[in-house]
Amino acid sequence: MQTNLRKLSVNRASIAHKIRYAARNPARIAPYLRRTARDTWLRLKHRDHVAYYRAVMASDTGRDPDLAVGSRSRERWLALGEMQFDYLKGHGLRPGQRMLDIGCGNLRAGWRFIDYLDEGHYYGIDISPDILISAKKTLAAYKLQAKLPHLTLTYDLTFDFLPEDHFDVIHAHSVFSHSPLPVIDECLAHVGRVLAPGGFFDFTFDRTEGREHHVLREDFYYRTETLIGLAERHGLRAEFMDDWELLPHGQSKIRVSSH
Ligand SMILES: C[S@@+](CC[C@H](N)C(=O)[O-])C[C@H]1O[C@@H](n2cnc3c(N)ncnc32)[C@H](O)[C@@H]1O
Repeated sequence: MQTNLRKLSVNRASIAHKIRYAARNPARIAPYLRRTARDTWLRLKHRDHVAYYRAVMASDTGRDPDLAVGSRSRERWLALGEMQFDYLKGHGLRPGQRMLDIGCGNLRAGWRFIDYLDEGHYYGIDISPDILISAKKTLAAYKLQAKLPHLTLTYDLTFDFLPEDHFDVIHAHSVFSHSPLPVIDECLAHVGRVLAPGGFFDFTFDRTEGREHHVLREDFYYRTETLIGLAERHGLRAEFMDDWELLPHGQSKIRVSSH
């Protein structure tokens, strides 16, 4: 199903695509070159992907935390958070459940989950200290202090500091779209341990039906079968969420659960 007019076979890393795109969008050439220069410098400084992406987030958050999580305006930030929340509420989220939000960002959706869930039931983790500071500002702005959510810095996705069989709902929105395969593999290898019986893990990804590729090691494009195969190799059941495709969002969604 392709409802939101995405071009699923485009290889954004190819020279031909870049030339065509530049010809159609001349105003974007200078910002793209600036971003390329910055990212090249950050990659030289930080060889490891998480350290590199943490530095990207520090730079982006310093300019605008909403833009750092991918929203051009407060209206888009609110709309994207609402879309995540409504979808999850319509697909099983209940107030008494415990939720782990991987890559929670500045709580674009997180503040709605915190508001909805029982006290202490929201656990957000992120690799970026800068965005977590912004998350705390969001929490205060929405006056949700009494909900006592956890907001924790992480470096890897082994979840070794979390208890087993704990979370009913695990969520990662727009995180694997910024992750190389070893990071996703690590997450899928360990997520089953912290998932409660009957629980599920929803994640979005940038889908391609052509060649898998990345742009500036910031945006990664995967085939659905790659991610479903990876989840199954870790003993998980994975399902492509068709109805997410009906929403005005550029990514696709997979739901993973234990067998
Ligand atoms: C595009 S933002 C989305 C934030 C949030 N999920 C939302 O939808 O508003 C991606 C977030 O994932 C975080 N992130 C990227 N890679 C990560 C990783 N390997 N583990 C945890 N967080 C990660 C980034 O720091 C950033 O805050």
